[in-house]
Amino acid sequence: MREPKYYPTKIEGIFDTHAHLYDERYGEEGTFSSDVLERCAMAGVTRVLVPADNMESSKAAMSYVEVNQGLSGVDLYCSIGIHPHEASSYCPEVRQWLIDTLQPEVRSTYNIMALGEIGLDYHYDLSPRDVQREVFKDQLNIAYELDIPIILHEREAVGDSMDILRSFKKEGRLRSNPGVCHCCSASPEIAAELVSMGFYIGFDGPITFKNNKSAPEVLNRVPLDRIVIETDSPYLTPEPNRGLTNEPCYVPFVAAKIADIKGMSVEEIVKITSDNGCKLYGINF
Ligand code: NI
Repeated sequence: MREPKYYPTKIEGIFDTHAHLYDERYGEEGTFSSDVLERCAMAGVTRVLVPADNMESSKAAMSYVEVNQGLSGVDLYCSIGIHPHEASSYCPEVRQWLIDTLQPEVRSTYNIMALGEIGLDYHYDLSPRDVQREVFKDQLNIAYELDIPIILHEREAVGDSMDILRSFKKEGRLRSNPGVCHCCSASPEIAAELVSMGFYIGFDGPITFKNNKSAPEVLNRVPLDRIVIETDSPYLTPEPNRGLTNEPCYVPFVAAKIADIKGMSVEEIVKITSDNGCKLYGINF
């Protein structure tokens, strides 16, 4: 296997706001992770949020945080929620489990900081589109009622996603800090509209790909105080490691690309995006 490359300098205090660290690629359940977290520490990644996409992975994210909290000095957080791919699995029991698990005491025990990933995905259509829309709207209502940010997943469904978000905004049912548009693939105009709604915008590996021509334009429409960085590990590995399993320790390459586009230092981008991640999720820093 190809040797991974690490960012040449260690920059302390990086926040990877999106990494599925319970994925089986990191080892057997219960045994995984210690080396992944060691490599986080080596790269200066001190905070990681572990997102979920169905009830099973929500529980996996919570137990990952519980078991590995603080290992190698990495602060771990998670989210729970039902991804559009999994919308067909949404039922009254799942809904009630989400509500029960998002109560303040449970939230603080497991560092549950967001409801997500939720949204619409018309690329794979793994759940019927009308079901996706209903499940997205229902979870948006839960997020508003329980006062928690969302992690938005949107793919090839920008028209319907924005219509739903606009109508929630109009009815006053979006928080002033509604959450993050994760792995943003939106046009510069839509990114700007999401920012105007209060969203943070998450950037990851694809902005480092040579064929990504739109990243600079999108990044230029997103103010610095709304940018967060993520890996979406184990997916979307940034250059120069494209093709390998992604890990949070590669997130400095994403920060470096943003620094390059914005004409700033990587250290500045790391500081700003980490502070943004903490503000997004209400973490004291
Ligand atoms: Ni993800």
